[in-house]
Amino acid sequence: MALDIVIMAAGKGTRMKSSLPKVLHKLAGRSLLQHVLHTAGELGADRIITITGHGAEHVEAAVQAPHLQFVRQMPQLGTGHAVQQAVPALHAEGTTLILNGDVPLITARTARALIEACGGKKLALLTIELADPTGYGRIVRQGGSDNGQVRAIVEHKDASPEQRQIREIYTGMMAVPTAALKRWLGQLKNDNVQGEYYLTDIVAMAVADGTPVVAAQPKSEAEVLGVNSPLQLADLERRHQKALAERFMEDGVRLADPARFDVRGELHCGTDVEIDINCIFEGQVRLGSGVRIGASCVIRNARIADNVVIHPFTHIDGGGDENQQGVTVGAGSLIGPFARLRPGAELAEEVHIGNFVEVKNSTLARGAKANHLAYLGDATVGERVNYGAGSITANYDGANKHRTVIGNDVHVGSNSVLIAPVTLGDGATIGGGSTINKNVAAGDLAVARGKQMAISGWVRPVKKR
Ligand code: UD1
Ligand code: CA
Repeated sequence: MALDIVIMAAGKGTRMKSSLPKVLHKLAGRSLLQHVLHTAGELGADRIITITGHGAEHVEAAVQAPHLQFVRQMPQLGTGHAVQQAVPALHAEGTTLILNGDVPLITARTARALIEACGGKKLALLTIELADPTGYGRIVRQGGSDNGQVRAIVEHKDASPEQRQIREIYTGMMAVPTAALKRWLGQLKNDNVQGEYYLTDIVAMAVADGTPVVAAQPKSEAEVLGVNSPLQLADLERRHQKALAERFMEDGVRLADPARFDVRGELHCGTDVEIDINCIFEGQVRLGSGVRIGASCVIRNARIADNVVIHPFTHIDGGGDENQQGVTVGAGSLIGPFARLRPGAELAEEVHIGNFVEVKNSTLARGAKANHLAYLGDATVGERVNYGAGSITANYDGANKHRTVIGNDVHVGSNSVLIAPVTLGDGATIGGGSTINKNVAAGDLAVARGKQMAISGWVRPVKKR
């Protein structure tokens, strides 16, 4: 049986007070709409139709997914009017699931339960009881009892004082037999307080038609909470992060504080992982077993092998989603505090990167160390190299980047400048303070700095009266 999904995302989101369309605001690193599309994608729909309106070009450009099509709603005359725009794109038969672009945490499990409850024959509404139902459409049941047949949805603004007492509300999500949906949408009127075409009016039509109306409930309230304001967005973000944190902790990850932990992408952890407070994980991050991460680290698109220790305030940035280079850190390495690993940093086992050291597009072989105040860009660093404090690779000539190749067991003295392209052979030694622009042969000592001289009995100038 055909399954079509309609995602409503044409609304303005006035209360966000933002120039960005509401559904493009981010929760856990992904736009609200991307969350809904991700869930829709898990349901095996034949067609996913997103209704756009406000900021349509922006929204359409920002999200792309298989089976996805956009239909524009201009102007926006209500939720019923929104779904009317999708009618030509729907199958003749089957089930249509309606989701909201600003309700990001709906799960595939709840959506499937709704689709099953519909079964291509019944009108299935996702409802929930709220302590404060203000503003929502109320589920009006036969005889006013909790398990009476659903008769209608009445919008808050159109509800009588008695109906406003009802705490069971419509969440904005439903599964409908597609053929009947098309018929009912053709009969919508806008004779209500807001002068809008209400999708919710199809419930009374179904009742009149003798189509059974059933209700299903989500597992948690967060699944059906919409985002209308920055405060609601932050509240939903915290709920989502807390749920994620609890899941990690159930799997044995030791978070110092589940309330101070943020995953904006996908995090995979081995066993005995410890994460201190205020760490942020973005994109795809893998942590091997025994990894320890100090406070306030930001880690994006990286693979961290077993038993790595990352000290506080370290920034690991494997780059964006396009041009994905990533960062890899080998087993047993020690990173930070205050270290910065940038895209293309590939560290083998037992590498040490200390405070205020930046590594970009460079490979460091086993046991290499850069412990203080240094820069390695576009470099190939051999095993057991000791890269002294304050040393840098001058990799950029103003137009092009060049590589620095450092052999095994090289010792680079403090405050050296290695002007690329340049190669230091195995076992070479660079005297501190050298500026090196010629290759150094294996085993050689290279010193390239002003020679020290001495003037005996030097008298310093004195201040004139
Ligand atoms: C709607 C429901 C209400 C329910 C509530 C749940 C109707 C008439 N009412 O009310 O019963 O309790 O959601 O949050 O459906 N949209 C469009 N085009 C439009 C109008 C809205 O695409 O012309 C989209 C919005 O972007 C949003 C969704 O539809 O994603 C819901 O619209 P909104 O205005 O928030 O509906 P409510 O009045 O809150
Ligand atoms: Ca709403």
